Amino acid sequence: MKPTQEQKAFVEDLLSRMTLEEKIGQMNQESPSIVGGFDVPFHELIEMLTDGRISQEEFGKIMANAKQDYHEDDIRAGLVGSMMVKEPRENNRLQKIAVEESRLGIPLIIGFDVIHGFRSVFPIAIAEACSFDDDLFEVTAHMAARESRAHGINWNFAPMIDAARDSRWGRVSEGPGEDPLLGSRFARAKIRGLQNDHSSLLNYVAACTKHYVAYGACESGRDYNTTSMSVSNLYNVYLPAFRAAMDEGAATVMAAFNDLNGVPCTVNKWLLRDVLKGEFGLDGFVVSDANAIRECVIHGIAEDDRDAGVEAALAGMDMDMGTHIYKDYLKAEVEKGTVPPEVIDEAVRRILFVKVWLGLFDNPYVPEELIEAYEKGLPKEHVALCRRAAEESMVLLKNESVILPLDRKQKISLVGTLADDRNEVCGAWAMAWKPEDCVSIRAGLEAAGANVSYYPCGGPEGELNEEEIASACAEGDVIVAVVGETDAMSGEASSKADISLPGKQRVLLEKLLASGKPVVTVLMNGRPLALGWEAEHLPAILEAWHLGIRMGDAVAAALLGDVNPSGKLSSSFPAVTGQCPVYYNHPSTGRPGSKSKFTSRYLDAPWEALYPFGYGLSYTGFAYDDLQIHKIGKCLEITVRVRNTGERTGTEIAQLYTQDVSASLVRPVKELKDYRRIELKPGEEKKVIFVLPLDSLGFYDNEGKYRLEDGLFRFFVGGSSRDCMMKELRIKF
Ligand code: NOJ
Repeated sequence: MKPTQEQKAFVEDLLSRMTLEEKIGQMNQESPSIVGGFDVPFHELIEMLTDGRISQEEFGKIMANAKQDYHEDDIRAGLVGSMMVKEPRENNRLQKIAVEESRLGIPLIIGFDVIHGFRSVFPIAIAEACSFDDDLFEVTAHMAARESRAHGINWNFAPMIDAARDSRWGRVSEGPGEDPLLGSRFARAKIRGLQNDHSSLLNYVAACTKHYVAYGACESGRDYNTTSMSVSNLYNVYLPAFRAAMDEGAATVMAAFNDLNGVPCTVNKWLLRDVLKGEFGLDGFVVSDANAIRECVIHGIAEDDRDAGVEAALAGMDMDMGTHIYKDYLKAEVEKGTVPPEVIDEAVRRILFVKVWLGLFDNPYVPEELIEAYEKGLPKEHVALCRRAAEESMVLLKNESVILPLDRKQKISLVGTLADDRNEVCGAWAMAWKPEDCVSIRAGLEAAGANVSYYPCGGPEGELNEEEIASACAEGDVIVAVVGETDAMSGEASSKADISLPGKQRVLLEKLLASGKPVVTVLMNGRPLALGWEAEHLPAILEAWHLGIRMGDAVAAALLGDVNPSGKLSSSFPAVTGQCPVYYNHPSTGRPGSKSKFTSRYLDAPWEALYPFGYGLSYTGFAYDDLQIHKIGKCLEITVRVRNTGERTGTEIAQLYTQDVSASLVRPVKELKDYRRIELKPGEEKKVIFVLPLDSLGFYDNEGKYRLEDGLFRFFVGGSSRDCMMKELRIKF
């Protein structure tokens, strides 16, 4: 996304004709403000929702009738550069005001949270990442871009690429998991899908990679909490996905809420100017997170709003999301000399460039026919892609005595309120789904012709129904229990101190098991759960996450064997919450956990993940052999033979890890370097070839410098981060 000479000239000309107020207007993002239409003040309404006086549903109904201020006058006066609205006709109306009624006719950049699809909702990112399928990451992003653009949204607040190793943090659901390499490939594919199809102005949007940076490392997994870490940890774990996104040409970046080593990212000059715009070469702009400039006062880093605005602008924060601080104070600060005019010009240049690149000056509107087409329903190919994504994202965690797949003749007792709730399939940060597009697990099983009877019995909240439990146990040949979390239990502001199954669901499982019938457990959740008890007692567990609108079809297909599960975990699962943060690529310790006492272990829990990163079963088996490494020029060619040892066709995700055995800084016990999806028929074998550039074996030191150090390396290949073949090789760079 490099500006051309022509685009540069266009922007410079526009800039030369703008007043200071108009320039600052471009740096101001608004969303519709609620101005009434209900009986209590808005802040009280929020409190009522928070303390439970009204339900989410009641709140939604009230909001649907609320009166909103779309800031038309400010748009007309050139004081708004961006809006956050999802209704297409409203967006056309606001664009018309900006283009036809403001002095310079600069269109709005319209942003929205399209994280894992718009109306076509795909699996939450932590789930989609389990597919290890770069092509899928890209095509789902492309479809999200087209649907967004068809609704007047030209800027998606995605991808969320925060590395996250502590599943107490509710926002693990929104990102691609714990690994920097998988996160980087996810980031690149998402940027390509969102931004690269310029065959029409309606086929691409500007990406907004977020949250920059280290938000996922918030202390104790508590949202918005402080983060601190070494420079080398930052560069090796949290920055790679952002670097990759910038290399792929990401248009914009959203700064994170947290402070990093004492400086909030919102006003962190080193992070924004030196690293992001300097070292990584961002050509577009940076936006704050919602209200974050004001929160710098509460952080105790600025005395008041004015001070916070000055600090943010000087640090390189180009756009203010939602506080009006830039709009209210920056003009006076420029006139006073605290903020140099060049700072404003630089921000506005970046914002205008993205608008030009989006083609908004050529045509900012959504054609009415397109709006009407979407009102008629989702195109078939969108639905099909939602289903493919859901099918590839499931992870089979356990299948003792090969209970799965089920036979269509078996009488299934389907249990759990989540199983019959199509409003819960989309998960956190899905904002535009329609209930009629969503398929519950019950509906999916029925449509697939399963012999199924449904007994709600209980769910993540509320009490159990003993009568229904008794009937479920008496009637079925097999029990399928759908347990997990509601969508509100993960996502923003949904951190948990206990990530075992919520409510009475474990008791429910105990009662079902007591019947002696086989119990298949389907998990529907937004974060890795602590499954120590479940792994020990339940014979079959399918991790199905929040899979999006076609969840029911995908789960039914997996349970009935029409689809062979192929996903591998993008995040490690602990046995108990107290193990958090738990992740596979841990730095080596001097006393690795073992059975002996004085090692890095717990007295009351395992030291390793229950289900590690990269783990996932299939209805068939895969065997690895003949691991070979050859040096070819500046690369290593690493080959392995993989064979399907079972009786079904299946897809394996072969993974390559390395370990730098002796380095000047302690290195991880294993690091993912590449992965490959391979489909194998029964008995079939394939040679998998990984080509690893030698310079990918380095690491960043505490000055942020990349180092390649000669010495011994280990190379691991296998079907999970735990279960690998290994070879050593001494490398001289
Ligand atoms: C807050 C969230 O942290 C961010 O991810 C989101 O994009 C913005 N609000 C806008 O809704």
